[in-house]
Amino acid sequence: MKKIAKLIALALCFALLFGCANANSKNTTSQPESQTPAAATSQSALDILTTAKTATMFTSEPISEDHIKQILSAGLNAPSARNSQPWHFSVVTNKDVLNQIADAMSAGAPGGGPAPSSQASSAPKKLGLSDATVAIFVYGTNNMPTDSFDCGLATEAMSVAALSLGYGTKILSSPSIALNGDKKADFDKLLQIPEGYSNVAVLLIGHNDLDAATGASTRNSMEEKVKFIK
Ligand SMILES: Cc1cc2nc3c(=O)[nH]c(=O)nc-3n(C[C@H](O)[C@H](O)[C@H](O)COP(=O)(O)O)c2cc1C
Repeated sequence: MKKIAKLIALALCFALLFGCANANSKNTTSQPESQTPAAATSQSALDILTTAKTATMFTSEPISEDHIKQILSAGLNAPSARNSQPWHFSVVTNKDVLNQIADAMSAGAPGGGPAPSSQASSAPKKLGLSDATVAIFVYGTNNMPTDSFDCGLATEAMSVAALSLGYGTKILSSPSIALNGDKKADFDKLLQIPEGYSNVAVLLIGHNDLDAATGASTRNSMEEKVKFIK
């Protein structure tokens, strides 16, 4: 009987030892596995950066708050000169607010007011502020010459994050004329902008309307834009 108990105990020890060794070997083999998502992520970031184009139309499908926060985290994590983080983001999903700013933009446009209907019908409609499902208003300080560059990096980081989540994006700088103009104080209040910040750009995000025509423009070649100094 004692012998049987000893044998069972031995078998248990073997099983435990073998199990641990197996788990350890799984851990070592799981290391490359745990690296795979990072590699896959960087590959998809490369894909995005080398192929993505500006969105031309959004559907009315909403964007989850969780995704909005992930996109904002990418902006907050952007590098900046001396880590100054000279940005402020106001996130607008309210169509009335977007329309109000869009109206101020068209009122201030050369000629003032909306385009005549004949002109409006012949030209393809450009994706504008009012079409955004989410618009991130990027504001920056003007303390260092690098501030607006840093805000640009944060804007691009949020754009790439949104693209990697499967959304379409468009960067606009044209709203800054109205937002930083005569009515700046009113818009600052509307968008809850802290003292000392001016608008740099607006990032429009939405679900791409796959039925819409693409508006992608061409890019210059590497031969035209790059010199390799060896
Ligand atoms: C800093 C910046 C400002 C931009 N401002 C505007 C704008 O005010 N209005 C607009 O229609 N597009 C604007 N764009 C979008 C560009 O026109 C677009 O990225 C460029 O034409 C390339 O288009 P594609 O990606 O469709 O090829 C802006 C883009 C950047 C990066």
